[in-house]
Amino acid sequence: MDTIIGNDIDQAKQHLLNGEPVAIPTETVYGLAANAMNEKAVLKIFEVKNRPTFNPLIIHCSSWANAQLYVKNVPVKAIYLAEKFTPGPLTFLLDKQNNISDLVTAGSNKVAVRIPKHPLTLALLQSIDFPLAAPSANPFGYISPTTANHVLQHLAGKIPYILDGGPADVGLESTIIGFDAQNRVLLYRSGGISLEAIEKVLQEKVIIVKNQPIENPATPGQLTSHYAPLTPLYNGDVKELLKRWKDKRVASISFSTQFDEIPVGNQFILSPNRLLPEAAAKLFAVLRSIDQLEVDVILAEVFPAEGLGRAINDRLNRAGAKHQ
Ligand code: TXA
Ligand code: MG
Repeated sequence: MDTIIGNDIDQAKQHLLNGEPVAIPTETVYGLAANAMNEKAVLKIFEVKNRPTFNPLIIHCSSWANAQLYVKNVPVKAIYLAEKFTPGPLTFLLDKQNNISDLVTAGSNKVAVRIPKHPLTLALLQSIDFPLAAPSANPFGYISPTTANHVLQHLAGKIPYILDGGPADVGLESTIIGFDAQNRVLLYRSGGISLEAIEKVLQEKVIIVKNQPIENPATPGQLTSHYAPLTPLYNGDVKELLKRWKDKRVASISFSTQFDEIPVGNQFILSPNRLLPEAAAKLFAVLRSIDQLEVDVILAEVFPAEGLGRAINDRLNRAGAKHQ
């Protein structure tokens, strides 16, 4: 199959109507989208990504109002947050209506929904009468794509169309929240909307869900080793780590620090002015480009644990989880 890259919403729509998956741009990362109401089409997502079917998919809707067709018992707090942050990088885990298949939710009675903030994808969603189930458009376990070319690198020949909406603005996946029986807010994945921003809107603390049980994780995609480059990555104090890797070819990822011990071409400074959104937007592209370099190891700094820094640290932790 030839994979075409373009910005023609009608072509993307035709493939979706034919039950084919297409890659779509979002403000977070590129998604691999299919008609969420068509099980055969949804199955193709799992095949293309090599993703186990126990890992459920987010459904993407054109608006919060439209999303109400697929969810029920929506807590008032979700409505407040939706008013503030949708369209945008916030995913809500809510009770599903019967029209959403078990394949999409991996058998759970909850479905993850989000309204992506990208003009092309919003226009596409407005032109169809079904939501799009879409995980990130990377092979299972690898780094999420933030450009159309990243998608092409791994999915060429496997999907007919990549809707090219330019590089992703946010560059990290959406924040995933849910609600417990007392309607407290649970944070399952840090991402494009910070914990602090959510707490500010609700004027209450959010509960960070850590160490989900492997046998039965609440969000099955949050297993430790994930978003991983092929090159081994260690996350911590780079100067300390360097002592261990003295005689090896090293690449570094830092917020703004330079390291005299590492060749300049192997140093990836994500934001010289220490702006977390800029660092977040560059992270995945940098991990991919380091995978193209001939280095033995990636040493990555710990970022400030605030705002998008939490999501950056989370991804670096997972990227390194295989090796520590
Ligand atoms: O920013 C994003 O969220 C991107 C773009 C494409 O929208 N999507 C994305 O999807 O990151 P994915 O599949 O790579 O990650 C979704 C996460 C996984 O950890 C999955 O287990 C969890 O959400 N998830 C999805 N549906 C769920 C459900 N019904 N219950 C629990 N967890 C769910
Ligand atoms: Mg993913």
